[in-house]
Amino acid sequence: MSFDAASLTNAAIGDLRAYDPGHDLPALRLRFGAAIAVLGSNENPLGPSPRARAAAQIALANIHRYPDPKGGALKAALSRRLNVDRDRIALGNGSHELLMLLAQCFADAAHEVIYSQYGFAVFMLAAAASGARATAIPSLPANHPAMPLGHDLDALAAAIGKATRLVYLANPNNPTGSWFDDDALAAFLDRVPPQVLVVVDEAYHEYVDAPGLSSALQFAERHPNLVVTRTFSKAYGLAGLRVGYAVAHPSVIAVLERLRESFNVNGVALAAAEAALEDPGHLARVREFNRSERAWLAAELARRGYRTLPSQTNFLLLDLARDATLLERHLFEHGVIVRPMGGYGLAHALRISIGRRDENLRLLEALP
Ligand SMILES: Cc1ncc(COP(=O)(O)O)c(C=O)c1O
Repeated sequence: MSFDAASLTNAAIGDLRAYDPGHDLPALRLRFGAAIAVLGSNENPLGPSPRARAAAQIALANIHRYPDPKGGALKAALSRRLNVDRDRIALGNGSHELLMLLAQCFADAAHEVIYSQYGFAVFMLAAAASGARATAIPSLPANHPAMPLGHDLDALAAAIGKATRLVYLANPNNPTGSWFDDDALAAFLDRVPPQVLVVVDEAYHEYVDAPGLSSALQFAERHPNLVVTRTFSKAYGLAGLRVGYAVAHPSVIAVLERLRESFNVNGVALAAAEAALEDPGHLARVREFNRSERAWLAAELARRGYRTLPSQTNFLLLDLARDATLLERHLFEHGVIVRPMGGYGLAHALRISIGRRDENLRLLEALP
């Protein structure tokens, strides 16, 4: 009889499938070099601060050493910048790791984890890996006048029951680009019982400029059950180095620390992230570029008859109102990589990251 480990998995992950990165980008880059526009992964086309690159270079001298397992210098820099104590910060190998760890540490088969339909895909994965029941709450409708496909915070609050242990929210959310403001979050948090952890994923926080939306961090004192995650992968331009962080009550952080892999963030990443924090000028340029380029691209797409959803992120969700497979293929053949959304149940949509102007022009020129 042939061996197949698929029949040996734990019950929780039996139905899961491996991450689908879309196209094989390393192979495509080898084949086409600069002749492709990669607009599928919500990366920062301007890259990191030169100071972060320089710090990474210096840190290379020590790659024969284990990194600081506590990430002390980066935590100190974050603590200063965010004005939170160091014992409220956990570092992760990307915020993805922390999102997984939260469910693993706090939920099991006796619990339920809830999140919004079209919420970031890792929420479902984290819930499944923990063994908890995963419940997706219907999003706002696609024709909602203010926030199509956004999180329905009323429905999410109403869905919290005795077994609920964790709620994941993404603000702004990937792949919809949608968001909710501080007042809406405050009202939501007031409805959540203290034994339910609310994780607000702020991966795109640095891009936000919507009135009324700052950050969930302001509610941390009032709501010790609140966890905020952020990343250096987006506006800080360090996706390749994998650094994220969580800010939460010290007792939440202490639990995460029990299971966190000792050297989860490597030394080059720690050094680069710390240096990136010290260059607010670069971050401001990234924000401004993204804001104006996103508005320009949305307008150019609209001029050509393509509808995009409102976005506070570094990407646009294009709603084709019909199956988007052919368009994705067509763009691919013209060297423009975008992300199909069938895996999210949005087969009519494509997610398009804001690239450099030449990449965005390439996209526009390739459109049928
Ligand atoms: C909403 C959201 N959260 C978290 C992440 C994970 O980012 P990272 O693991 O690179 O920090 C992403 C990445 O795309 C994201 O879109």
